[in-house]
Amino acid sequence: MLRMSQERWDRRHLLGLDGLSANDLVDLLDAAEQYLPVVRGESRLEPPLAGRIIGNLFFEDSTRTRCSFTVAAQRLGALHVDLTASGSSVSKGESLIDTSRTIEAMGTSALVVRASQSGTPAMVARAVSIPVINAGDGRHEHPTQGLLDLLTIRQRLGGFEGRRVAIVGDIAASRVARSAMHGLTTLGASVDLIGPPAMVPRSFESVVGGPGRVAVGDDLDAVLGEIDAVMMLRVQFERGSDVGLDYRERYALTVDRTARLRPGAFVMHPGPMNRGLEIDAEVADDPERSVIRQQVTNGVAVRMAVLRALVL
Ligand code: NCD
Repeated sequence: MLRMSQERWDRRHLLGLDGLSANDLVDLLDAAEQYLPVVRGESRLEPPLAGRIIGNLFFEDSTRTRCSFTVAAQRLGALHVDLTASGSSVSKGESLIDTSRTIEAMGTSALVVRASQSGTPAMVARAVSIPVINAGDGRHEHPTQGLLDLLTIRQRLGGFEGRRVAIVGDIAASRVARSAMHGLTTLGASVDLIGPPAMVPRSFESVVGGPGRVAVGDDLDAVLGEIDAVMMLRVQFERGSDVGLDYRERYALTVDRTARLRPGAFVMHPGPMNRGLEIDAEVADDPERSVIRQQVTNGVAVRMAVLRALVL
């Protein structure tokens, strides 16, 4: 089990939700909540990061996370510079550290780093003297995704204590699941990790950040009527994951399974979705059950909160 605990959050970088206290998390969620009217275009902001430049270093593909950080920076009045691996000197063999230092030397105020290798943002953080935000590293963590998941759950349920959230699918390869697990358990919710045994290591039961517990299982049908929310994960084919023909039969969130959720229970997915594999299109688009678009909107607000907290 990969452990890269930050021990405690020193507010210099955001490398993971592991190590953040319940108070740290609630502060960020409260700040994000205040930014939501700005994200929805209902109010304007005296831009706190006017004149600043945020460097987006995306060494791995991304749609929503990269655009979301860009929109967040712009809503705060900052400019941004975008670097992607293809089309940059990374493809000429320049090291990620040299690239990061180059962008820092241009006067950027923070670096947002995504990479396919776990630990890359931590490595960059040691090499530069500006804040680094992990935008997803390999199979490790994706803290701003974790925060947007927490915000969405809090909006629907009002809180976390005594609540039960199932995370379903390719857990072993999922940085989204790891960050959600840390955040949810720290705030007092319990987490059911459900998937084929090869995708859900038993050792994850000991990954707890606080009062909530983590339970590992392989029977989605058994928990459907017990949970308050279900987070479906994409099968990470690009990280070597593969599934058999029975995957859909056992682990997909189908229309039929969704009908067996408790009233009020809701459906999350970080995107991008494999429609028809882990989730039915009708479920993803169900206006009552699905909060997938709300998650995206919340993502901008939490990234504004994180940038604001680290950059000023
Ligand atoms: C996730 C990621 O990149 O880890 N996507 C995202 O950031 N919204 C999940 C995934 O790729 O399956």
